[in-house]
Amino acid sequence: MRINCRVCGGDVEAALDLGRQPTANGFLRPDEIESELFFRLAVGRCDRCTTVQLLEEVKQEVRYHDGYRYQASGSAGHRRHFAENARRFMDTELTGPDPFIVEIGCNDGVMLAAIAEAGVRHLGVEPSGNVARVAAAKGVRVLGEFFDETTAKAVRDGDGPADVIFGANTICHISHIGSVFRGVDALLADGGVFVFEEPYLGTIVDRTAFDQIYDEHIFYFTVRSVQAIAAHYGFELVDAEPIWMHGGEIRYTIARPGRRVPSASVARLLAEEHARGLNEPETLERLRVIVEGVREDLTDLLRRLKAQGRRVVGYGAPAKCTTVTNFCGIGPELLPYVCDSTPEKQGHLVPGSHIPVLPPEVFAADYPDYAVLFAWNHAEEIMAKETGFTEAGGRWILYIPTVHVPGG
Ligand code: SAH
Ligand code: TMP
Ligand code: ZN
Repeated sequence: MRINCRVCGGDVEAALDLGRQPTANGFLRPDEIESELFFRLAVGRCDRCTTVQLLEEVKQEVRYHDGYRYQASGSAGHRRHFAENARRFMDTELTGPDPFIVEIGCNDGVMLAAIAEAGVRHLGVEPSGNVARVAAAKGVRVLGEFFDETTAKAVRDGDGPADVIFGANTICHISHIGSVFRGVDALLADGGVFVFEEPYLGTIVDRTAFDQIYDEHIFYFTVRSVQAIAAHYGFELVDAEPIWMHGGEIRYTIARPGRRVPSASVARLLAEEHARGLNEPETLERLRVIVEGVREDLTDLLRRLKAQGRRVVGYGAPAKCTTVTNFCGIGPELLPYVCDSTPEKQGHLVPGSHIPVLPPEVFAADYPDYAVLFAWNHAEEIMAKETGFTEAGGRWILYIPTVHVPGG
């Protein structure tokens, strides 16, 4: 399987194939199983600009709609992080007269709520109607559209140039990246910045976090590839800052060429990537071998525990859980349920693997012997909350970076 790079037209060949998969946030009711949509989840690297990307994609209207199940405010850590982001923008970039910030993919308003509260001019562009309404209820001004060149020009016509265009866990979701950058070009003030925080291929490789690979993540950025993408569309990468979100992401700052002095961290991270060969073709090949080992270890462990009569369930039903359960072939026979605090997911099935999602109260009412922690990036928050489980003798199963059972 091969495609032309979405950025530069170079050659992208499949290097890591996670098989037939459904859309990762497509939590479904039992009566919807018949119509569930599958595609081939495979990534490859562009031989020209090095951008790692999906080969096949699911149409954006199938991924983002009125029943989109991801709510960004679901974790205290995320709420804190985005409140800090809002504060930082207001202290640094949004200090001129009547500043204006646009967020691409504002979801439930986790970031913009604080900006709205401070009375700063803003706009969230959010195509998923249900989460957009939650944002609007918090006082956020929302445009219910997909961000692209056309919407960006319409916003510019109506509101004038933006001092900041921001996106978190959204820019890597957008297949039409050329249209996004042309839109940023149309909308961004001359001295403005385009800031985005996205999963980092370096983290995926370091932690074997292959569960970051799913239909919504079209791109798996590195500092090197984002620098190439920015240059391709007439911009410059001026900062790259590692952040802890989702297990380790990078916050990229893009500006018009020559408008800002690139920070030392861009050069430092580029040198680091070069030294470890992150942008080389072998990276995905090596990851493939390790990921296949994790699949074997995890399914072996679950089968062994089942044979011993142990009760094992899943904890957290993030999109990541869809990739892992489908790639490993784990269904309700090995995990009778996963518990998740998101009301929109409860009563539904994990896409593809069809494991029921139940509220955390079910978990607390009758602790199992083991719980596979799918929401591993919230491990600290969850383990602190679920001390009753471990005190009752329960054990966590983690599969990042390798399959292990802390404490026994
Ligand atoms: N920023 C939040 C939400 C990320 S989920 C966070 O970091 O937690 C990704 C969001 O991007 C979804 O709400 C989805 O509806 C939205 N989205 C997807 N494609 C988009 C596009 N082309 N323009 C704007 N938003 C988009
Ligand atoms: P995320 O990592 O993509 O934010 O997804 C985390 C998922 O885990 C989300 O569906 C909510 C769920 N979750 C819980 O069920 N309990 C918790 O305590 C936390 C923090 C998250
Ligand atoms: Zn390319």
